[in-house]
Amino acid sequence: MDGIFPVYDFYQLFLRDFPAFVISPYANALLSFHVCEYINFPRSSPLYLSNACAYKYQAPYSLAFMEHTNKFAERFKKSIHIKTMPTETLYQKTADVYDIRHSSPTTERVRVLEKALIRRYAHGKSLDVGCGTGYHLDLIQDIMGLDPSREMLEKAKVKGKKLVLGKGEKLPFRDGSFDTVLCLFSVLNVCDAGKTAREIRRVLKPGGIAIVSVASVWDHTHMSFWRKIRTNPEKFRTKNFRVSGERAKLRLFTKRDFLSLFEGFSLQGFDSIYRIVKPRWNNFSDFSVREKLLLKVERLLPRDYGNMYFGVFRKD
Ligand SMILES: C[S@@+](CC[C@H](N)C(=O)[O-])C[C@H]1O[C@@H](n2cnc3c(N)ncnc32)[C@H](O)[C@@H]1O
Repeated sequence: MDGIFPVYDFYQLFLRDFPAFVISPYANALLSFHVCEYINFPRSSPLYLSNACAYKYQAPYSLAFMEHTNKFAERFKKSIHIKTMPTETLYQKTADVYDIRHSSPTTERVRVLEKALIRRYAHGKSLDVGCGTGYHLDLIQDIMGLDPSREMLEKAKVKGKKLVLGKGEKLPFRDGSFDTVLCLFSVLNVCDAGKTAREIRRVLKPGGIAIVSVASVWDHTHMSFWRKIRTNPEKFRTKNFRVSGERAKLRLFTKRDFLSLFEGFSLQGFDSIYRIVKPRWNNFSDFSVREKLLLKVERLLPRDYGNMYFGVFRKD
């Protein structure tokens, strides 16, 4: 991994040496800084923060995030280099730990819902757009996976299904090739969603089904972005602190945005997940009684404000 260690599961920090430190947008940045401090992260090493930005409801950087970073730099007397990574680079660099990172109880809940939708709606010849390490390839007999990351596809090889290197925006298939297309778990948040939705429509047969999920604007991990803070990173430049790199693309959806992507399709189902149960590290992955109770409460909340939206659309 080019000597960069992505921090998604902090316990791993104690297990290995690493020359640099990457904090993903999904990690709690402040907590990550404390961990750096605790483990006595070498002060000479750069600290990278990947994708510390989103693009639709935000500005390049969250104000609160920049303030924390700045304080940390001052207190720890650490030179901080925030390097934002394009999303594709993130998936190339983190393919090795993708499955570990996504084995939290929260993801388990996402998987339960996805499996139910796949069982109910998927049929015939299928395509998984943004298949990643291939989680869903096990769930459908006649399916192939597509992803732009070689590293992710390498991991998916064990599933024994046909894999294609490519992007959702330009699917290398003829019109009307598939009965079902999956596009799950933040794929549409990181690509050009409009183009990808049009491509999904094109490659689906009439009557074909698209099963799609996206992170919504209510996703608490991105709440600070949602406040639409417009901040000039230059304002925060201090002698210990610098920002560089390509701005990441992470689009968060309102329910209306999400549904309008598939305008002209007929909506077969809509659901959401609130994730009021916090993700924890893998080694403590069972839900406590309190969390089980919270999960029940969550089902009573209006579906429109969940953190993650799920839609099933039929091409008429
Ligand atoms: C969060 S992962 C989801 C993987 C898989 N669907 C899952 O549920 O585990 C997002 C995936 O989208 C892929 N991706 C990024 N840009 C893409 C694009 N333009 N078209 C298709 N997939 C893309 C990434 O390489 C990554 O594997």
